[in-house]
Formats: sequence, structure tokens, C-alpha cells
Amino acid sequence: MAIGLDIGSSAVRAVQIERKRAGTLRLTRRGEVALPPEAVVDGDVVQPEVVTEALRGLWKRARFGQRTVAVGLASQRVTVRQIDLPDLADAELRDAVRLQAQDQLPIPIDHALLDHVVVERYAVGDDRKNVRVLLVAAEQEMVERLLSAVTAAKLRPAVVDLDAFALIRSLASSPAETDQVEIIVDVGASVTKIAVHRGGSPLFVRMVRLGGDSATRALQEVLELGWDEAEAAKLEASGAMAGGAELDADDERARVLNDGVQRVITEVQRSLDFFRAQHPDVAVKRAVLSGGASLAPPLADRLEAVLELPVEHGAPVEALEVARSGPATDQRSADPLLAVAVGLALGLLR
Ligand SMILES: Nc1ncnc2c1ncn2[C@@H]1O[C@H](COP(=O)(O)OP(=O)(O)OP(=O)(O)O)[C@@H](O)[C@H]1O
Ligand SMILES: [Mg+2]
Repeated sequence: MAIGLDIGSSAVRAVQIERKRAGTLRLTRRGEVALPPEAVVDGDVVQPEVVTEALRGLWKRARFGQRTVAVGLASQRVTVRQIDLPDLADAELRDAVRLQAQDQLPIPIDHALLDHVVVERYAVGDDRKNVRVLLVAAEQEMVERLLSAVTAAKLRPAVVDLDAFALIRSLASSPAETDQVEIIVDVGASVTKIAVHRGGSPLFVRMVRLGGDSATRALQEVLELGWDEAEAAKLEASGAMAGGAELDADDERARVLNDGVQRVITEVQRSLDFFRAQHPDVAVKRAVLSGGASLAPPLADRLEAVLELPVEHGAPVEALEVARSGPATDQRSADPLLAVAVGLALGLLR
């Protein structure tokens, strides 16, 4: 049994996945508790007590079978860089990565938690090889605040994992043996996570401070509404547009939604350009979307036109069997919003 815990800017969510006989994976529990906008800001836990309270409520309602969890991390204060080094044994590689980190990171290395993932090994000349790694560096204080909110709710974090890596696990369409390269884009309330992978292995990761909250904030100002009213107005307009309704050109709701969509497209395009410059011989075949704000109607269509790639909404729950005795409907969050939690749980089951 494994539980993935996604502490997002708008809600805490968790799923419980169990491995059944014959190796099938079954989603047996899921739950969500909303957070006020001040509790987690731009992916960082700012009010740990509020998050702890939400986690207590989540465990009470969804009745998960254990307290050990994999926790996700996505913040502007996490840096992911590609580094190329001579191919070394593991321990030496760790030291070499650390040295590189010292040179390249925007934060002092004593205040950072470091990890690395090997992307590939490639030949240089006849008898030498290089290794390409993704260096992940997170501000220690930020991770500690996240973990303190989790442990105060009497939960046990088994691992902290990047949301982006979890997304690759839950959304990669190709079985691991095929080498299809895809770009995954999760547009949340305040952080957009962009990951390029080849057959399930990460090649590129980027996090951008961008998401659905900016549209809500804009509506709050122009329409002089409270946060919840502005959020509701935005969702209603998004639903209407998804249903094919043409909103007036001077409808502020359509304007802010369109602005948000445009900003996401610009960032995705920028990331893809950067990736292609780094990997001129790799062809990205498909884009997969997840996260609440990716549901804003014109996004998928316009992204498809701009990137000239097929764009699909990810279905993280589809590959899993779903237990019939799931929790009550009020605890359910829409499937596309579960991609991070599902991927975190899958990481523990490997
Ligand atoms: N149908 C929809 N149309 C437009 N926006 C939507 C829709 N449904 C949800 N959203 C927006 O999606 C955002 C929440 O998405 P999500 O739950 O994926 O974010 P999060 O995980 O809480 O935050 P983050 O990952 O950025 O820390 C909110 O801004 C919400 O308004
Ligand atoms: Mg999220």
C-alpha cells in the first residue's frame, strides 16, 4: 500500500494505491481538503499550522490505511539543472555533482538539499563516456517547513519527491520500453510544472510561478469581489466556455482566462525552445496536460496550434483499477487534479 500526498497551493490531496494479485494497481482511497490562498504560496508552505489542520481533516475523512506518505515538492525555490560530467562511479559522481552545484546554484550550498537523477550516458570519443544528470537543489528551510507541517499531523514522510517526477510516472503514455519523448505540463493554482521525458525518464524539468490564481486575483480586483466569489466567477465562466458558450468580448472573466492561457502558452513554448536547443536531435511527439488551470478551455486547442504537437489531457486514474467502495463523492477531486498524488504513490510502489 502506498499513499501519495500532494500539498498544492489550493488544496491538499492524497490517494492510496494498493498492489493486487497479478500486479494490478488499485486506487482504494482518495481525498482532498481545500486550503485558503495564504497557506501555501507559490508552492511553499507559509502557514504550516493551517496545512497541518487540513491534513488532519483529510485523514479523518478519507480514512487512509496508513500514515506513511510520499510528499511532493514544486516551488520556484527548487532549482533543476542539467550537468554533464565524466562518467564516474556513484559515490564519486555524488561528490562531482556537489562541486558543480557549488559553482552553479543561486543559493549557498549549505542551505540546500541536493539530489541528482542520471539522464543518460553517452560516448565522447572512442573510449570515454560522459554522464548527463539533472541536479535538483531545494532550499533546506523550505523543505523543513513542508515536512514540519506533515509530521505535526502525525504523518510520516517516507520520501520527498519532485511533483514533476511524479507527473512523469502517472502521465507518461508510453510504456517504459518505448522511447517516445513527451512534454508534460501541469498548470496548478500558482506553479506550472513542465517536464520532458523519454519513455518515463526525465530529460528536462522546469517550474514557473504561474497558474490559475492570477486570473482569480485579477477578477477580484476588477470586479471588486472576495476571493471565493472571484474564484467561483472564474470557474463558472470557464465551464460556460468549455460548453461552447461565446462570452462577450468585454466580459472580464473571458479576458482574464484568456490572459492566463496565453501566459502558460508562452512559458511552455519558451521551455520547449530551450529543451530543443539543449537536445537538437530529440523530437518531442506529444504534450500532456494536467492540473486544475489546464482545464481553462482554450488552452489545449491553442497549445496544439502553437506547438504543432498533439495535446491531450492526462488521465492519471485511467491506468488504475478503481475500488468500488471509494470514499463519498464530496471527498473526490476531479481525476486530472490527482496526477501528482498518483505519481507520488507510484514512486513508493516501485
Ligand atoms: N475548470 C476549470 N477552469 C479553469 N480553471 C480551473 C478549473 N478547475 C480548476 N481550476 C483552477 O485550477 C487551480 C487549481 O489547480 P490545482 O488544484 O491543480 O492546483 P494546486 O495543486 O492546488 O496548486 P499548485 O500545484 O500550483 O501548487 C485553481 O486556480 C483553480 O481555479
Ligand atoms: Mg498542484
